[in-house]
Amino acid sequence: MRKPVIAGNWKMHKTAEEAVSFAAELKQADLPGEVEAVICAPFLALPALVEELTGTGIGVGAQNVHFEQQGAFTGEVSVPMLKAAGVTYVIIGHSERRAYFAETDETVNKKVKAALNGGLIPIVCVGETLEERENDQTKEVVRKQVKAASAGLSSDEMKKTIIAYEPVWAIGTGKASTAEDAEEVCSFIRKTVADQFDQQVANEVRIQYGGSVKPENIDSFIKQPNIDGALVGGASLNAGSFIQLVQAAK
Ligand code: G3P
Repeated sequence: MRKPVIAGNWKMHKTAEEAVSFAAELKQADLPGEVEAVICAPFLALPALVEELTGTGIGVGAQNVHFEQQGAFTGEVSVPMLKAAGVTYVIIGHSERRAYFAETDETVNKKVKAALNGGLIPIVCVGETLEERENDQTKEVVRKQVKAASAGLSSDEMKKTIIAYEPVWAIGTGKASTAEDAEEVCSFIRKTVADQFDQQVANEVRIQYGGSVKPENIDSFIKQPNIDGALVGGASLNAGSFIQLVQAAK
């Protein structure tokens, strides 16, 4: 009943021109309508991607946004600017932004609210570090992040929000979580949403797994009852592999 979402997070990769060639390959592919496919690209590639992908059913997302509408925030981009460019999704609170750009639970919450108010779909990232996992703090960390990110949202807003569970130790390392461990945490995230909102909201919210997902392991994650797709870094940079991921998620 929940539509799976495969989102590529290109991080700081690809120029506008490279994005256009990637989009040309995507447009040739036979992508299943029952999977939501999204490309989250660097800001400068977004207008070109929107132009190429409008009408194809493939969504375009940003990787960050500021929570204010406008103002003296040098170097930042706002929700209305992304909307005006035709962007539909935005990744919020990726662990790289939490680690290197001082993103906190509080700014994540402000950004989630700003995105939803402005009509963007937030993809909110949560996940524990290796140290936290080894100290058996995974659930505590993830619960705190989910609750903080969704504080003050209405049930309807929460239903639109996508949560991406990305254990930090699995990102870019080639060491994906086992599907069973990822399922356990994603199911715990759903329970956290049920406690904070209600069971109906929890049943509708989509929860992705992210961290070294590739065509060879996507099946094991997709099979899990509480995993509704993937947020993919490295394996989304190649159009052929992104297409395989989307096809495998149906
Ligand atoms: O947001 C996606 C990400 O952090 C996972 O990256 O390269 O491990 O798929 P990767």
